Amino acid sequence: MNPRKLLWQFLLEHKGSYSLSLLSIIISEFITVQFPNLLGEFTDALQAGKMTNRLLLHYAILLALVGIAYVILYGIGQLWNGALGRQFEYLLRKRLFLHWELLSTTYFRHRSIGDLLNHAMTDVRQVREALSGGLNILTNAVFLLIATLYMTFRTVSVKLTLLSLIPLVFVPLFIVWFGPKVRIASRHVQEGLSDMAELTEESLAAIRLIKATGNEEIEEERFRKRVEEIVRRQMTMFTRSATFQSMIPLMGSIAFAIALLYGGWLALTRQIPLGSFVAFTLYLTMLIQPLQQIGFVINNFQRASASLLRLSILLGEKPEIQSPPEPQALEEVRGEIHVHLPAFQYADADEPTLYEIDFRLPAGRSLGIVGRTGSGKTTLVNLIPRIFDPPSGTVFLDGIDVRQLSLEALREAISYVPQDGFLFSTTIADNIRFGDSEASDEEVHAAARAAAIYEDVMDFPKGFETVIGERGVTLSGGQKQRTAIARALLKRAPVLILDDALSAVDMHTEKSILAELTERRRGQTNIIIAHRLSAVRHADHILVLDEGRVVEQGTHESLLAADGIYAQMYRLQEEEEAVG
Ligand SMILES: Nc1ncnc2c1ncn2[C@@H]1O[C@H](COP(=O)(O)OP(=O)(O)OP(=O)(O)O)[C@@H](O)[C@H]1O
Ligand SMILES: [Mg+2]
Repeated sequence: MNPRKLLWQFLLEHKGSYSLSLLSIIISEFITVQFPNLLGEFTDALQAGKMTNRLLLHYAILLALVGIAYVILYGIGQLWNGALGRQFEYLLRKRLFLHWELLSTTYFRHRSIGDLLNHAMTDVRQVREALSGGLNILTNAVFLLIATLYMTFRTVSVKLTLLSLIPLVFVPLFIVWFGPKVRIASRHVQEGLSDMAELTEESLAAIRLIKATGNEEIEEERFRKRVEEIVRRQMTMFTRSATFQSMIPLMGSIAFAIALLYGGWLALTRQIPLGSFVAFTLYLTMLIQPLQQIGFVINNFQRASASLLRLSILLGEKPEIQSPPEPQALEEVRGEIHVHLPAFQYADADEPTLYEIDFRLPAGRSLGIVGRTGSGKTTLVNLIPRIFDPPSGTVFLDGIDVRQLSLEALREAISYVPQDGFLFSTTIADNIRFGDSEASDEEVHAAARAAAIYEDVMDFPKGFETVIGERGVTLSGGQKQRTAIARALLKRAPVLILDDALSAVDMHTEKSILAELTERRRGQTNIIIAHRLSAVRHADHILVLDEGRVVEQGTHESLLAADGIYAQMYRLQEEEEAVG
């Protein structure tokens, strides 16, 4: 789905809300432009000596009412619009997440998925900001401009308005032209600083080697050059931002000079009343801000449009695995899994990875899968949500071949925590919310509690609003896993698959998560892959895989009694634990 199309569709779908929110902003602007006019009338009444106590009160009340009406209407419009923008952001993110899930893993072997998706997240934010903030400000600015011009043309003097406007026209032009230069300069400074941090780290790490080889001077020289470069970049940034910040007031001042000179003369020669002159100077101050904002919004839109383009490219990648043209309907999912697989071979492999896998997992039961590394556990569970395609007629959900289901329906029915669970560089709350974008804060927190990550999150200064990765906090392996589990739990899908998702948590935490899991997912299907047998011992059924085959299966007790590989693994792990 093309995000541009998605955007239009969203705008169309919400055209009612958008029109109302923009309308309230527009009305608020037409109300606020009454302000200078009222003050102008007030001045004229004062000058003509017609001011009475009653009139004084009348103007005071009117002015207060104008202020209140403005705040209320503008506030409503802004809030409304902001909420719509957030909605669109979620929609776009959800699409990205779905798309990421749909693309087969082979696609990602050729690309750095983390980078790709994290840029995509920044792009999504950019679009959202343009959509809510930008649209708001643009409407506001344009209508304030129109309203002010209308009022000044009508009540003051067309010539005076046009003359004073000349320098102001350059404000948005200047911002569009110069604004990006300031941003680039500031980005260069950032990059320079992180370069230097890297160099420092490198040098510190290699300090012994540097000393041993007598390379101190070379190293010093390298460092000095970096510092000089940063200073140079900082100077560029300062000059640019100083120019930027002084140019706009300068243009404002020139406009004022013209207004005072020409307007003052008009008032002096009684061609316009004094009140009109006062009103006009107020209108002029009102104009500067929207003109500035128009410039910023244009820049913002340009960036957002580039972001949309990048998102289109990413979302345009065709997944290798597709829904069937006429998928079978899947209504109430019970969550029964049936696998009847003679063999499975990866496209680029010489021989099959799985052989003769046969099992039926009734709905609402739990399945444990264990086996040595490389025995095919991940391969097996990947076939269920069609991360890789099983041959037709070998893997069934509720008795329907998974290849006959639409991918959306299939993946909606399954919560999957992959072995290398992925988190986006966004807040922890958002990361969990990928499981269900409509979930309330309480639901997110409950999922976090069940996944035993709640306390950890609360220890971060910003709690659930902590941003992960890039410039944010780095989570430990176990924290990442538990966040991914919270996401999967929030989804409340009929089938849950945890691929080694408890490997980086300690025994105690594992136990508490498993207890929560049993509690929350009573009557739903759970598949747990683990190396530590403690994670699967309470499962209703356990498969032991070896070299792509099921070599043993049964319950924990029956497998122990059989005294085979499982029993051997169990004894080994008991000993390890005892040793500590
Ligand atoms: N995308 C792939 N293409 C080709 N071969 C693969 C692919 N993924 C895995 N394999 C191979 O399939 C075999 C089984 O791998 P799999 O990841 O299923 O094992 P596993 O039991 O999950 O191991 P671990 O416990 O280490 O996670 C391995 O020999 C592996 O090299
Ligand atoms: Mg695996």
